[in-house]
Amino acid sequence: MKASSNGVRQIVIVGTGLDGRAFRLPLPTDATTFEIDRADIFELKGTLLTEAGLLPHCRRQTIAADIADPEWIAALSLGGWQHDQPTLWLLEGLLIYLSVDPRTFRVETLRGAGGLQCVTYSRWDRAPE
Ligand SMILES: C[S@@+](CC[C@H](N)C(=O)[O-])C[C@H]1O[C@@H](n2cnc3c(N)ncnc32)[C@H](O)[C@@H]1O
Repeated sequence: MKASSNGVRQIVIVGTGLDGRAFRLPLPTDATTFEIDRADIFELKGTLLTEAGLLPHCRRQTIAADIADPEWIAALSLGGWQHDQPTLWLLEGLLIYLSVDPRTFRVETLRGAGGLQCVTYSRWDRAPE
C-alpha cells in the first residue's frame, strides 16, 4: 500500500500461488497486479475465486509462465507490464523452488526494471550476501 501511495502502479507477484492482494487490498483502480505462476495454479485459483464470488479492486493480469525460463520476462511484457514504469516486485516463498542463484535472479533478471523488491528467503544457505 505504501508503494501505491508513492505512485507505483505495477505490482508483479512472481510465484503468486493463491495470493489475494488484488482482492483484499484497497489498491488504486489504475494499478495492475501481474500474477505469474504455472497454468494449473491459475486454473485452481480461478475456480476458487469464482466459487467465492470475489472481484479484484484493481486491474489483474495473470501470466502463466515458468520463471526458470528466461523468456518469462517477455511473457510479462506481452501481458502489459511496462519495463520503464516503477514496479513493486514481490517474490515470496518462491526462491527455494528455483535452481538459479537468487542473486542472479534478483540483480540480473530484474536489472533495469526499477522500483522496489520484496523477497523472502526460506534457507539461509541460499540467501544473498
Ligand atoms: C510456496 S508458494 C508461495 C505462494 C505465494 N507467493 C505466497 O507467499 O503465499 C510458491 C509458488 O511458486 C510457484 N512456482 C514455483 N516454481 C515456479 C516456476 N518455476 N515458475 C512459476 N511459478 C513457480 C508455485 O507454483 C507456487 O504457487
